[in-house]
Amino acid sequence: MSQLSSQSIGIFDSGIGGLTVAHAVTKLLPNENIIYFGDLAHLPYGDKSTAAIQAYTIKICDILLQQHCKLILIACHSASSAAYDLVKEYVASKAQVINVIDPAVNHIREHFTKKRIGLIGTRQTVNSNIYKKKIDDLQLEIELRSLATPLLVPMIEEGFADNNILTQTLSNYLSHSELDNIDALLLGCTHYPIIKQQIMDFYEKKITLIDSADISALAVKGLLEHHHILNMQTNTPQHKFYVSDYTEAFLASAKWFFPDVIHFEHYPLWE
Ligand code: DGL
Repeated sequence: MSQLSSQSIGIFDSGIGGLTVAHAVTKLLPNENIIYFGDLAHLPYGDKSTAAIQAYTIKICDILLQQHCKLILIACHSASSAAYDLVKEYVASKAQVINVIDPAVNHIREHFTKKRIGLIGTRQTVNSNIYKKKIDDLQLEIELRSLATPLLVPMIEEGFADNNILTQTLSNYLSHSELDNIDALLLGCTHYPIIKQQIMDFYEKKITLIDSADISALAVKGLLEHHHILNMQTNTPQHKFYVSDYTEAFLASAKWFFPDVIHFEHYPLWE
């Protein structure tokens, strides 16, 4: 086992969405240490320009590299669509880099030939057309129908997951004709697994939901194995959580995923 194996996995998102992925990673890879960065100061990413998301992303990668992360997981579809190529180039050989889009596309390739798939995500993710391009390139007669659902992230961050306002908003979005007669719905934002149950309720379990959190965790495992940097030590992992700004709602929601974590360090990245 190389010395690099014991280094952390760096994971980031604009807010709590990436915690769905971080949680899946720690479940699948319980020996791994993670460093999480939630860029709450710039939430939501989905409505920002590509250039702004790229700037935030590179700054966060700098922090993760300073902490010697062996792998950086962009746990955000918006940042993955806006900045993955740039991050790969920037990080170069200093760490492995993985996004949440390619693992989802691979999963679709394996399971959804000739199907009609709906995609919901932020404006950035949907308008980038990245999923459409990658899925069309597969040439598997998969039809992708996409809808930007920008109100969902602020509601989820506010802890509205369980109320009528969210149910109404969700029902408005999911009834859109763009999403008619789909076989599966891809949750193209890492915040959306938090409202998976409400989405399932809308569809009365008649379609499949594609949640990229578990799929991405499997891809992380594959990449670590491929590079022989999986952590085999069985010590209790040491996770670190940073936020660029605090909100009470974030801290409350974060406890659902990591109940033992009591400390989120304020990292004033932008001051
Ligand atoms: N969770 C993110 C995503 O997957 C970002 C959402 C946002 O900040 O708009 O797109």
